[in-house]
Amino acid sequence: MKNLAELMTQRRSARDFDVNYEIPEADFNDIIQAMRMSPSSYGILGQRLLVINRGEMREKLAPFFYNQLNYVNASKFIIVLAANHKGLKDATTHTMDLKFGDSEARAAYEGNIHKVLFSGNLSDERLDSYSSQQTYITTGVATVVAASLNIDTCMIGGFNAKALGEYLIQEGLMYDYETPFITMAFGKSTKISGEKLRSELKDFVKEI
Ligand SMILES: Cc1cc2nc3c(=O)[nH]c(=O)nc-3n(C[C@H](O)[C@H](O)[C@H](O)COP(=O)(O)O)c2cc1C
Repeated sequence: MKNLAELMTQRRSARDFDVNYEIPEADFNDIIQAMRMSPSSYGILGQRLLVINRGEMREKLAPFFYNQLNYVNASKFIIVLAANHKGLKDATTHTMDLKFGDSEARAAYEGNIHKVLFSGNLSDERLDSYSSQQTYITTGVATVVAASLNIDTCMIGGFNAKALGEYLIQEGLMYDYETPFITMAFGKSTKISGEKLRSELKDFVKEI
């Protein structure tokens, strides 16, 4: 088997997918598990995934993704939801309940989080951005794990988040204290775009 560095060197973002290919269920479960196990700042449990299978809902949501082929034809498509500025405090409390209950360790940990996040210094946009960052870690992990399973992916940030969010709330699939920050397509790639382009190693790394 190739090592992960080789897999990451070879992997490419899929611009389109084979419409007849279905990801084996066990592989997809492994990807979900890896996403669930991704690290997050303070360990806050603020994320959940909507898996949009092929079918009616995939078609209905297509305009929010500007009908990109890698959205339309993916075997599996994931929308990563996370607590936004309205929901982050509750997500933190929920996490602390599970992690510490009423134990003494809770006060110090929770106090630190509150000082950093909820002392009133951060705007709603900064809190949203904080939550959004966590979702990119989750999709980054999924990118690597999928590559290790020979499954092609594309992270998709090119969507109308506001309109998609409103629609998901209307459909009862999302709460107003959540936001769809990033999304991701999985399947067997049929199209990539150009040569892989990365910074030269000497420009990318400076060792001191
Ligand atoms: C946060 C993020 C958002 C992206 N959004 C899109 C997108 O909306 N549509 C798309 O086709 N590719 C999208 N991509 C894929 C990038 O275009 C791709 O990773 C980049 O061009 C490098 O190509 P490679 O992954 O094949 O090496 C996105 C990638 C990231 C990390």
